[in-house]
Amino acid sequence: MVDVVFLGFGNVNSHLVKAMSKANTVVIKQIFNRNAIQQNSVIENIPFTDDISKVAAADIYIIGIPDDAITEFSIALKFQDKLTVHTSGGVALDALSSKNRRGVFYPLQTFSKKHDVNFKAIPICIEAENSKDLALLKQLGNTISNTVVEISSEKRAKLHLAAVFVNNFTNHLYEIGNEILNEDDVSFELLKPLIIETASKIEKLSPEEAQTGPAKRNDSKTIEKHLHLLGDSKNRNFYELFTEALKQKYGKKL
Ligand SMILES: NC(=O)c1ccc[n+]([C@@H]2O[C@H](COP(=O)([O-])OP(=O)(O)OC[C@H]3O[C@@H](n4cnc5c(N)ncnc54)[C@H](OP(=O)(O)O)[C@@H]3O)[C@@H](O)[C@H]2O)c1
Repeated sequence: MVDVVFLGFGNVNSHLVKAMSKANTVVIKQIFNRNAIQQNSVIENIPFTDDISKVAAADIYIIGIPDDAITEFSIALKFQDKLTVHTSGGVALDALSSKNRRGVFYPLQTFSKKHDVNFKAIPICIEAENSKDLALLKQLGNTISNTVVEISSEKRAKLHLAAVFVNNFTNHLYEIGNEILNEDDVSFELLKPLIIETASKIEKLSPEEAQTGPAKRNDSKTIEKHLHLLGDSKNRNFYELFTEALKQKYGKKL
């Protein structure tokens, strides 16, 4: 049995609680959050506290709060010599206070509180300061995921950088697509099969093999037409930047 306390109850920790509450080798001893949390059937039997001095004893403490708050929060914890991990891709292990044994338990996925995920398919990137703690994090990770990998803070920072490109920036491009269609009252629904096919193609093809479009083909008349449609809108910069990058990559002259 592994006893776990969750510190913070945002997007990530609420999903971790849901997944771990189904694992019969994990006991969720308590959830701490600085404000009251919304009750639901998953957490109704898990003790809750908003008092940092009343955090329960556990084998592992999982801090799931915004990156910039992690260091200060870890310093404010009242216990010491306990395995305390954060869930961030972009924060180094040594951002945690050294009064506790430090670790990382980073689930590489995008989490929104209201959107269910299949944890079995989510890679969990772990790091710890000693082999015993690493083994414990691996054991915990294996209860919810099929893929648990040890990765250093340096490599995790690169993984997180890549994740920002493929997830956050891609999603911003969806937002731009949506905006462009809204201007003419065209439904975003029509783009969804394209979005899904673009993502699923990379299961079989490399990103280079999967790329298509006017910039790769150097269809200059089509590109001119798009620039005309964009006028001087703020999205023109993105279009020009991506088109230039693709032309350079695929070797076509402007
Ligand atoms: N969301 C993702 O897709 C994702 C994916 C992988 C990893 N991560 C990482 O997971 C961590 C949590 O991300 P998240 O999206 O779950 O964050 P989030 O939903 O924004 O986290 C909100 C939680 O943090 C608490 N909190 C905020 N500021 C705090 C502070 N100064 N002191 C103490 N508690 C504070 C909030 O408490 P109140 O309710 O009291 O405000 C709430 O419980 C981050 O390190 C992030 O990088 C996120």
